[in-house]
Amino acid sequence: MPAIKFYDHQPIPMEMHKVKIVQQLTLPPADRRLAKMKEAGFNTFQLHNGDIFMDMLTDSGVNAMSDEMLAGMMKPDDAYAGSESFFRMRDKLEEIFGMKYCLPAHQGRACENILAERFVRPGKCVIMNYHFTTAKAHITRLGGHVEELVKFEGLEPVSDLPFKGDIDLDRLEECIQKEGADNVAFMRLESGTNLIGGQPVSVQNFKDACAIARKHGILSVLDASLLQDNLYFIKTRDEERKDMSVRDITMEIADQFDMIYFSGRKFGFARGGAIMVRDEELFHSMEDLVPMFEGFLTYGGMSVREMEAMTVGFDESMEMDVISQGPEFIKYCVDRLDEYGVPVITPGGGLGAHLDASRFVSHIPQEQYPAGALTCAMYLCGGIRGMERGTLSEEREADGSERLASMELVRLALPRRVFTLSQVEYVIDRVKWVYDHRDLIGGLRFVHEPATLRFFTGRLEPVSDWPEKLTAAFKAEFGEDQ
Ligand SMILES: Cc1ncc(COP(=O)(O)O)c(C=O)c1O
Repeated sequence: MPAIKFYDHQPIPMEMHKVKIVQQLTLPPADRRLAKMKEAGFNTFQLHNGDIFMDMLTDSGVNAMSDEMLAGMMKPDDAYAGSESFFRMRDKLEEIFGMKYCLPAHQGRACENILAERFVRPGKCVIMNYHFTTAKAHITRLGGHVEELVKFEGLEPVSDLPFKGDIDLDRLEECIQKEGADNVAFMRLESGTNLIGGQPVSVQNFKDACAIARKHGILSVLDASLLQDNLYFIKTRDEERKDMSVRDITMEIADQFDMIYFSGRKFGFARGGAIMVRDEELFHSMEDLVPMFEGFLTYGGMSVREMEAMTVGFDESMEMDVISQGPEFIKYCVDRLDEYGVPVITPGGGLGAHLDASRFVSHIPQEQYPAGALTCAMYLCGGIRGMERGTLSEEREADGSERLASMELVRLALPRRVFTLSQVEYVIDRVKWVYDHRDLIGGLRFVHEPATLRFFTGRLEPVSDWPEKLTAAFKAEFGEDQ
């Protein structure tokens, strides 16, 4: 986004697009929100979208499409086998990543399933900068384990480190020595680490980590789901690369890896996914898993329309005017909250603004899911649906004890090109109110706890009547209809 200059005040983030189609929103009043929260078992995944004012759960599959993407959807080639839509998508991905072979899949976690099925065996290790929920679940399901080696600074909520998603290279070497290279299924680096605040990885770190993996004969895999945000940060924070094109930076990163997979619900702004593979033999070794789990090799569970839309979306992800919108809105939100004293993850990353629940509601013990409780409070006090990214999103240890998360975050996602700055202002306002009334928030406990990925379908209850008290205080301030 070119820095648009203003005559009479400091620049603000600007939308470099205009709205053509809108979806009407309603703000359910506070009492209705309380009733809906109870119905949803204090789990924001269980709310219905019609009861939500600002849906900031995720950026997955809810980014706004462009007119060009919609136009692309009008020319799909519907075929079970040999669809031209697939070949157009594959060719575009080859142009961007320089990898020839493409395994299509219906979304990111389906790629993770294929990689895990192919490479993970009981006792095997997958090294990561940081895990993503579904990536880890597929590995542990098959008896593997994950080693997370993000630099310690990456887990510090307040920092001015520009690339907090970098993997610690010394610990990477140590981990390979300890595990034995033969026991490492692959190394997975996530560009734009989702669970620790959408923090980016530097090109140098990608290069150094992949060189270490290569030296030990370990396959390197890039999770490029959040690559577009990471590219924006490289372009704006890496002095050496500020004059490079986004495409050249992308190729420089891709060149380091043996495989790249992504969720097309994020990268590509549509709905789908794929694994790109450099080596033909490696590609063939996974090929049979696509028809088995996804669909034939030229659609992989995706609709041909979505493939066409994504193909345009990949090109748009190479444009600064497009990829800057999310991070700049997030920075605006994070900076305003930070100025007010609200604990947030700094610097602002990609994907969304992240509230640091361990400081925000420090009176709630980790075993009572402070980030889960704060997520519920944001819905009760504003109809804002965020996502818990803390202990609730972890799986229990094998002995049944809680695995306490290294960070307790509430993610307020900013799906790309969806919200306006006035809506972001509303969110900032309501977060400030909740912060000033944080003592009213209490903890949660499970009443129904699934064994795997419990945050999706689990049901909880408050440990006291704090939701009623919080709602009453909110109504006293804003009235019955807000
Ligand atoms: C970094 C990352 N990897 C993988 C996935 C899984 O993708 P999907 O939701 O399309 O299954 C996500 C989704 O949020 C993600 O953020």
